[in-house]
Amino acid sequence: MIPSLVSQKAIQKAIDLAKKVAITDTTVLLTGETGTGKEVFAHAIHQERQKSFVAINCSAFSKDLLESEMFGHKAGAFTGATKDQKGLFEEANHGTIFLDEIGEMALDLQAKLLRVLEAGEFIRVGDSKPTKVDVRIIAATNRDLQLEIEKGSFRSDLFYRISVFQIHLPPLRERLNDIEQLAKHFLLSFSLKTNKQVASINSDYFETLKQHTWKGNIRELKNVIERSVILCDNVLNASYLPVEMQLPVKETKTGKTLSAFDLASAEKLHIQKVLNYTGGNKTRAAELLNIALTTLYRKISEYGLDS
Ligand SMILES: Nc1ncnc2c1ncn2[C@@H]1O[C@H](COP(=O)(O)OP(=O)(O)O)[C@@H](O)[C@H]1O
Ligand SMILES: [Mg+2]
Repeated sequence: MIPSLVSQKAIQKAIDLAKKVAITDTTVLLTGETGTGKEVFAHAIHQERQKSFVAINCSAFSKDLLESEMFGHKAGAFTGATKDQKGLFEEANHGTIFLDEIGEMALDLQAKLLRVLEAGEFIRVGDSKPTKVDVRIIAATNRDLQLEIEKGSFRSDLFYRISVFQIHLPPLRERLNDIEQLAKHFLLSFSLKTNKQVASINSDYFETLKQHTWKGNIRELKNVIERSVILCDNVLNASYLPVEMQLPVKETKTGKTLSAFDLASAEKLHIQKVLNYTGGNKTRAAELLNIALTTLYRKISEYGLDS
C-alpha cells in the first residue's frame, strides 16, 4: 500500500479513538514522536468536560520536586516548605491531569502514581494520611515503554494500568497528504499574526516540504512556516525554506554525507537551483554556472543531483 494511505488511516484512527474516549473517564496513553500533537490531543480529549485541565512535564523536574509538584507537601516536609501546599493532582480534582513525558518518571514515583490510579488517593510529601482525588489521567510519552520495562526503568503494572486506551500519533513523514493542509493552516495563522499577505505559493514549496524527514514533526513544520512567512515578500517558493531542506542531504557518489554547513552543500544546492531554472537544460546550466559541460556532468553524478 502507498505509505500516505496507510498513514491517513493512522491519523483518522487516532481521531476516532480520541472522540470515543473523550466522553468517558478512562485513562489515556498518547504515544508518538516529539511534536506529533500529543498535547493538542490531550486538550481535545479533555475539552468535552469543561473542567480544570492541569499539565505537568515529568522530565522538567528532579524526582523530589516532581513528587511535591504532583502531590503537594506538608509544612516542614523539607527545607523551604514553610506552609502546606496543594499539588497538581488536587488542583485537577474532578478534571484532567496531563502527565507529559511519563517515561521519565522515577520508579518510586511510578508506584505512587499507580496508587492514585487504583485507589484514588496519594500521600502529600511529609504527610501521614492519604488524600483522596477524582482525576482523569492522560499520559504521554515519546518513548517505547515496553522497551523501558525490559530495561527496568518503567513498571509493568503501571504500564498495563495506563495503556488500557492507547492512542498512537503517526510521525509527520507518514502523513504526506496532510503536510500541505497543515502548512496552509500555519501560513494563514502566521500571515494574520505578522500582517503579511503571501500572494501565492509555488508548487516547489510544498514539494520540498513533502520530501523533508520532519524529525520534529508538526512543531518543526510550524517553525519552518513561521520563518518562511517572516522572510517572504510576495511569492513563496522553496528558496524561503532553510537551506538544509532545499535539497535532501543525500549521500554523494563518494559515499560522503554532506552537512548543511559544508561548502560542497552550497555548491550542490546552487547547481540544483540553476538546473531547475534551465528546466534541466545542462548546456545552458553549464554556461550560466561558467563551467565546462563535462564538469557539470561530473558534479551531477558526484552529488547525485536530479537532472
Ligand atoms: N493538528 C494540529 N493542528 C495544528 N497545530 C498542531 C496540530 N498538532 C500539533 N500542532 C502544533 O504542533 C506543536 C507540537 O504539538 P504538541 O501537541 O506539543 O506535540 P507533542 O506533545 O507530541 O510534542 C504545537 O505548537 C501544536 O500547537
Ligand atoms: Mg509535548
